[in-house]
Amino acid sequence: MSRAPVVAAMEGSGFYNRNSSLQAAGIAAVLPLWEAAIQSADPGGGDLVIADYGSSQGRNSMLPIRMAIDALRAKVGNNIPVQVIHTDLPSNDFASLFKALEEDADSYMARNSHIFPSAIGRSYFDPIIPAGRVTLGWNSWTLQWMSRTIEAPDHVFARFSNSPAVVDAVAKQQADDWQRFLRARAFELRPGGKLLSLFVADDPGHRSWRWIGGEFWGAIADMGDSGLLSERERLSLTFPTNARSLEEIEAPFLNDGQFAGLRIERLELMKGSDPFWGDFEATGDANKLGQSWADTMKAVFKPTALRAISPDRNGEELVEELFSRFASRVAASHQEHEHYLAAVVLAKSS
Ligand SMILES: C[S@@+](CC[C@H](N)C(=O)[O-])C[C@H]1O[C@@H](n2cnc3c(N)ncnc32)[C@H](O)[C@@H]1O
Repeated sequence: MSRAPVVAAMEGSGFYNRNSSLQAAGIAAVLPLWEAAIQSADPGGGDLVIADYGSSQGRNSMLPIRMAIDALRAKVGNNIPVQVIHTDLPSNDFASLFKALEEDADSYMARNSHIFPSAIGRSYFDPIIPAGRVTLGWNSWTLQWMSRTIEAPDHVFARFSNSPAVVDAVAKQQADDWQRFLRARAFELRPGGKLLSLFVADDPGHRSWRWIGGEFWGAIADMGDSGLLSERERLSLTFPTNARSLEEIEAPFLNDGQFAGLRIERLELMKGSDPFWGDFEATGDANKLGQSWADTMKAVFKPTALRAISPDRNGEELVEELFSRFASRVAASHQEHEHYLAAVVLAKSS
């Protein structure tokens, strides 16, 4: 078990924006919680600041940010300037984000004035915005990414490893990362500010992502068995992403209901939907189902997979082969994807 730094953002050139309907469906499910968080936030007397933590290429942030702008302005006045800060890793495709802000019909910039978007390309595990500035924080589908990789010898998602040492190391890293994220956001939120985080969640039966994760590991193992991936490459193909349970999300708040001046207002576990299953049921097209899953996984994991391949080999070709084998396995074992989401709304003490 070794540890390597985590680097990769999502697949660039707008590929994540075009292949993130799974994530968009999860976001739609938490919008009622987001609306309640916006309504109960204290907008304060100055400019409004909305932070989007882990924005990727921005498409999925348009609706929640528009909701926040509209509701806050309804409270404090239509001409109040709003600063929107999108944050992500330095390797993120920010160019696609700014293009979407200008060109997408759904952009929160459309039909709005006095909106000032900007971006920060730094990891959010430390403070990245000055103290007490943020009125509302939005954070969807990011905290499954750990600040570093914990390699598993037997699965692409380390939490499914048969090694108790690997599973424990993941749980510890996830706990440390969550506390670091909370401390940094507590610093940045203004008193009365709110933050919503949408997590990839573990369910009590540990079924969340088991089929898709199992087929991805199957594709890696196939390529290893065919001599196409070395032992080192197989190990490096542990994706640094893991689900959290509700208990793990609540853990920092157990002592007196507070952590770093934040408290939990709402915490919910939800069953996620499968955006591709309806189409499969209507058409019976298993190859299309396999391709939809391959594109969804490629949008998120291709840059990470490329980094796992030794630099002296044709990484692009090998990684394309990996996603193609994964697509075939998904087509052959087609079933409805089972996954869970957790949403937490946090309030900064006034
Ligand atoms: C699956 S995408 C989610 C994008 C978008 N929020 C959505 O809901 O569709 C995860 C994003 O989290 C970002 N991310 C991962 N670790 C991060 C970190 N430490 N700091 C900032 N962003 C991070 C990734 O670069 C990626 O863009």
